[in-house]
Amino acid sequence: MAGILRDRFGGKIPLALGPMAGVTDLPFRFLCSEHGADMTCSEMVSAKALFYKNKNTEELMQISEGEHFAGIQLFGNDPGIMAEMALAIEDRCEYIDVNMGCPVQKVVKNGEGSALMREPKLVEQILKRMSSVLHKPLSVKIRKGFYREDRQAPEIARIAEASGVSFITVHGRTREQFFQGETDLSVIREVKEAVKIPVIGNGGIRDGASAVRMLHETGCDGLMIGQAAMGDPWIFERVRHYLETGEELPAPSPEEIYAMILRHARMLIEENGEHMGILKMRSHASWYLTGFPNASKMRAEINRITRYEELTELLRR
Ligand SMILES: Cc1cc2nc3c(=O)[nH]c(=O)nc-3n(C[C@H](O)[C@H](O)[C@H](O)COP(=O)(O)O)c2cc1C
Repeated sequence: MAGILRDRFGGKIPLALGPMAGVTDLPFRFLCSEHGADMTCSEMVSAKALFYKNKNTEELMQISEGEHFAGIQLFGNDPGIMAEMALAIEDRCEYIDVNMGCPVQKVVKNGEGSALMREPKLVEQILKRMSSVLHKPLSVKIRKGFYREDRQAPEIARIAEASGVSFITVHGRTREQFFQGETDLSVIREVKEAVKIPVIGNGGIRDGASAVRMLHETGCDGLMIGQAAMGDPWIFERVRHYLETGEELPAPSPEEIYAMILRHARMLIEENGEHMGILKMRSHASWYLTGFPNASKMRAEINRITRYEELTELLRR
């Protein structure tokens, strides 16, 4: 395995928490890091919004002491603005990641996110300009391709490597698939074979066995877990344990989950105040309760609470 990830992790396969807008807030990234996420990344931040000094972007870029190798992800398609904004924020994090995967229509229609998978020349301009000014590593997060039958990932990966990118994350689904459906592991292998820089495999990892499958079928250097970490920061410990021993650890007990919900809520309240903190906690709490026999009733109640006390009372019952 070449370069940066080996230097950083000494041969251990790094487990990364996938950036997820509206999910991977600061407390959640902290909790995942505490439970074995070796790498984290902010959710996507608009380079243009940063350029125009939109103050909402500030919150998205905060990184906590507990994160081990934390990046900030930018999205945009203007090489000059991307480079200028990356340079302006690089001191706050350990690497800058470029989003080439966001499938959301309002991003794609501006030619940003996954729309860049169809613009190899522009990708080259953006990445060359960024890597020429940055002192920290530059990485890129790409998809298999845009339309269902597309497969641009290997070409974009080669361009990224030649443009000074230090590592690449490949989500093995197309833009058309959004976040669901089968992940194409063969395209991740193709990217791995196309470049010498480290490749992180992403898409559909939900337990030890699917993590091992990703590793074996793609030869990738690191693993990224997205949706399976929602409401389950313990997944990183379980996957690590499986990689080391071949055994699945038991899932956390209801008591551990309740304790985690309350801790996560207190952290969100500390960051945002009680009202906003509890509102932000509602969706996390619903994810934590996935699989509980009375989950839908509890979710309905959680969506009405506004105070920490109500949350403790609900969980106590
Ligand atoms: C709600 C949600 C928000 C996401 N936001 C981002 C984002 O801001 N930046 C990004 O690169 N990927 C984003 N993703 C994609 C994930 O990082 C990951 O690539 C994807 O979910 C596939 O991995 P998984 O199958 O393990 O979930 C998001 C995914 C979801 C479900």
